[in-house]
Amino acid sequence: MFIRLLALILLTLVFTLSASASPSATIMLRESCPPSFEKMSDGTCNLVTVYGFYESVQGAGLGGTQTSLPQHRDGFTPQQIDLGRYLFFDPALSKGGSISCASCHHPDRGFSDGLPRSIGIEGEQLARAAPSLWNVAFLKKFFWDAHAETLEAQILGPLYASNEMGNTPDGLLTTINEIPSYRALFKTAYPERKGERIVLDEIYHALVAFQASLISLNSRYDRYAHGFHAALSKHEVEGLNIFRSFVARCAECHTPPLFTNQQIAVIGVPEPEGMTIDIGAQETFEEPRLKAGFKVPTLRNIDRTAPYMHSGSFDSLHAVATFYNGGRGHAVPEGLDLKLHWHISSPDLTDYELDRLVDFMGALTDESLKPQTPSHLPSGLTPISHNMSKRRQREKQ
Ligand code: HEC
Ligand code: HEC
Repeated sequence: MFIRLLALILLTLVFTLSASASPSATIMLRESCPPSFEKMSDGTCNLVTVYGFYESVQGAGLGGTQTSLPQHRDGFTPQQIDLGRYLFFDPALSKGGSISCASCHHPDRGFSDGLPRSIGIEGEQLARAAPSLWNVAFLKKFFWDAHAETLEAQILGPLYASNEMGNTPDGLLTTINEIPSYRALFKTAYPERKGERIVLDEIYHALVAFQASLISLNSRYDRYAHGFHAALSKHEVEGLNIFRSFVARCAECHTPPLFTNQQIAVIGVPEPEGMTIDIGAQETFEEPRLKAGFKVPTLRNIDRTAPYMHSGSFDSLHAVATFYNGGRGHAVPEGLDLKLHWHISSPDLTDYELDRLVDFMGALTDESLKPQTPSHLPSGLTPISHNMSKRRQREKQ
């Protein structure tokens, strides 16, 4: 009896040890679609949402609740989505292996980073804040100044900018191809490919597949929109009504259900102390009227992503609401000629109304489809990671 027990204990020990000794060998890609997606006969995942049953945006009115969603990126297999998850969290994608996409787009911070401006691989501050990635599947333009038109084009920015992840296409390919576990996983996710080597398009494709699975459409606001009126409190309903009123006009730009109309707007946000004006979309479109124009950001999960605006000028939602209430162009530096959007006005909301707007924005939170952070990675590196001191130590060696 005792011997059998001892054997059992030993066997369990051997299993646990072998599992932790070679973690990468045990990684398998999921075969089922993420929650809220159904698997189609061709093996790809298809998003299922109540919004899919609404016919059109026409006639829904300003801030109408039962409107349909725009086209979105889909058609990815569960394996491609899951492979993208590993890549997204893996610092191996950066030069020297110190930061991952998740370092600046952290799942516990609404896929943003809690900083006014992000910190790149060399430890220096970037010019702008990291936007949330929730619902990026629906977006048509990327970056605050809308300079990328696809998620694939967007990825090239962080991967290869010397002050973000600092990698090169060759460097990335060499690293990823040298990791046996990635070679096996890419083969599973892209079974039809001809060669043995992982190629850049597969890396980009898997990252897009993962990002397109970050769906947030099941907040208390959504339940209200679908007809469960008890889902919002009295204060939140008051806030919604102010939000979509012709006085406050928030819904003209932050249009439901995505809470962005995907347009560029010049609204006159002040830059933080000591920073010169960011001309934003003027550069992208070579259009002086768009000076300091930025893409209207989504307000989904907005209470998770402070500080706010393209360069983190405001610490709280209350400060943002107060900014909109301050009178047309009140924060534009003297002598700077900005063509403010016509929906930026002077709503003269009371303190009570500003508080209700904040209450309402808090009802836009839904992280029920938040993906799991991998417990270990094919590269063997620590998921997420942003360890500057480690990186400096390594450079000294
Ligand atoms: C060093 C921090 C940092 C890292 C690392 C990083 N990002 Fe970002 N990301 C940002 C910042 C800052 C912006 C906004 C930049 C701008 O608009 O000029 C951004 C913008 C984006 C956007 C555009 C979102 C929108 O609404 O326009 C996407 C998508 C995105 N990043 C995905 C990724 C992916 C995928 C990776 C990994 C390959 C990654 N990011 C790595 C900081 C980072
Ligand atoms: C004319 C279009 C427009 C209107 C109207 C508008 N917004 Fe915005 N909103 C924007 C743009 C553009 C930004 C980004 C500006 C920047 O970063 O400089 C923004 C940013 C925000 C942000 C910060 C988002 C983030 O991720 O940092 C919040 C919160 C917000 N708006 C709430 C509101 C509220 C509440 C109202 C109504 C009182 C409102 N907006 C009205 C266009 C608009």
